[in-house]
Amino acid sequence: MCGIVGYLGQKDTKDILLGGLKELEYRGYDSAGIAVLQEGNFHSYKATGKLVNLEEKTQDFITNGFAIGIGHTRWATHGKPTELNAHPHVGESSYVVHNGIIENYADLKKELIADGVKFLSQTDTEVIVHQFEKNLKTSDSSFEAFKKTISQLQGAYAILLVTKGEDETIFFAKHGSPMLVGINAENEKYFASSDTPLIGHCSDVNYFEDGDYGYVTPVGLAIFDKNNKVQKPNFSKLTQNKLSAQKDGFRFFMEKEIYEQGDVIADTLMGRLSDEEILFEELDTTLFKGINEIKLCACGTSYHSALTATYLFERYAKIKTTIEVASEFRYRSPIMSKDTLFVVISQSGETADTLETLKMAKKAGLKTLVICNVDNSSMVRLADACILTRAGVEKGVASTKAFATQVTVFWMLSLYVGKLKDTMSTQEIAKQIALLREVPGACKVTDNLHERIKRLSKRYLHGHGFFFIGRDVFYPLALEGALKLKEISYLHAEGYPSGEMKHGPIALADPELFTIALLPQHLLYEKAKSNVEELSARDSTICAISAIEFDKADDFIAINECKDYMLEFFEMMVVLQVLSLEISVRLGNDVDMPRNLAKSVTVE
Ligand code: G6P
Repeated sequence: MCGIVGYLGQKDTKDILLGGLKELEYRGYDSAGIAVLQEGNFHSYKATGKLVNLEEKTQDFITNGFAIGIGHTRWATHGKPTELNAHPHVGESSYVVHNGIIENYADLKKELIADGVKFLSQTDTEVIVHQFEKNLKTSDSSFEAFKKTISQLQGAYAILLVTKGEDETIFFAKHGSPMLVGINAENEKYFASSDTPLIGHCSDVNYFEDGDYGYVTPVGLAIFDKNNKVQKPNFSKLTQNKLSAQKDGFRFFMEKEIYEQGDVIADTLMGRLSDEEILFEELDTTLFKGINEIKLCACGTSYHSALTATYLFERYAKIKTTIEVASEFRYRSPIMSKDTLFVVISQSGETADTLETLKMAKKAGLKTLVICNVDNSSMVRLADACILTRAGVEKGVASTKAFATQVTVFWMLSLYVGKLKDTMSTQEIAKQIALLREVPGACKVTDNLHERIKRLSKRYLHGHGFFFIGRDVFYPLALEGALKLKEISYLHAEGYPSGEMKHGPIALADPELFTIALLPQHLLYEKAKSNVEELSARDSTICAISAIEFDKADDFIAINECKDYMLEFFEMMVVLQVLSLEISVRLGNDVDMPRNLAKSVTVE
């Protein structure tokens, strides 16, 4: 999501901060800002949009000699992407940058406002700096005030804070959002939320653990753990290869993005789950007033997540839900009635066909909602309401983590609407929320699983075609599995509803027809199993994915036993993604930039 940097040393602080932010810009570019403290004076600059705007604004600002500074590039979550909402956030004499979400910010803010504090932004982050300054008044030292502040925060954070009274110190804290500190022989200290900004500057780095907090000065680094015990830094050598660092050591961006799905789903859930209800602060409940139907419209992978949503909305929220491929919807004179909520889904927010359908719906006077991964994109600006998926920048052309977060948002939204429409009891919602909390774990790729799929992939490099089959939500997942394989292996693959194979496609069955069968334990298992047996009887080569051993398959990929079919959905999703990846690797294809495709299709 956002990016953080910090610097303490003799070099040009502005240049170092901006250079670091450049490396992190891909994580968010709604706005950026820096604050530099030199000889007791603060200099702070902020700009909306890409980093180049901040670079222009700071052209005449030069830092010579010792200084400390912090910087931030933002991917908006709380509050619009305006300059006031850009970090660093300021108090009376301190500045803070923050990644993550302060879940109890509303309570803290209320108390601070009652104390007479004036807030400038709509962000959750701003409470940190005011709370720190409030604590400063009753503390013996800035560090004590900082420590107290951290103990009052709930949620996830990576924080850097600087204050006028201590112009040689940067305070830091980490819980749930990544951060590291780097050192070198010149006694400089560098902070960042990932290691790329530090490459070329630092020899050794210490990755902070959750609960770590402390400070750096020109002469030292003090780290305390969550139990307030002093920690020795655990330095490791920093790689000097930038591209490999951007890929976190993975071979491809797609692979990295598959592996980070657990984390981005955790980000997507962050602040949106209470024990008994779904919290979408960004939505006004009036959006659903008078709505009797939801119409979903999207392209490609986003269409598949939307198709999954049709099952969830009707099952949980008991609301009629229909779906259209955007390029079809545009030209078929659709009937649009005002009791329909029109929902577009897009990773980029720029896909031309989807954007056009949104314009059509707006013109017809329908209420509109966009589920999107890019704030400030065309669709986000146009729709009445927006839910951001928080997958971070997706670089692999074959979408993986965007899909995972879209399905997560849809699952949450179906419960949100279920509560609004009173179609689910509090206990039912609470049960679903407990399951949602398990999704990040269900997306974990273990070495064993990856190795198994890698070995097995060598048997699937030829043949006259693949059928990916599933029922219910596993049908859209089958479509998505087939699309992934097509996109990066260039092999022919189709997704099909399991029960539909007998109505035609089964004619293709022979040993050279590969069937990838999704067999969830908790949803229509027996029915789906019979469909696979029909194919097995016709000698199709079958690779079954299930938690239950299936002896009619040629190959079997075991997923973990789960409590619910939706958790099985995420487990199988990961298997399908890794399978496509490994087949593509064996075929020697360009995994991240497959032929003929583009990440964002802004033409019709
Ligand atoms: C392109 C991409 C697909 C993506 C589709 C929709 O075709 O290659 O991966 O699913 O566009 O993109 P969107 O940004 O609207 O989700």
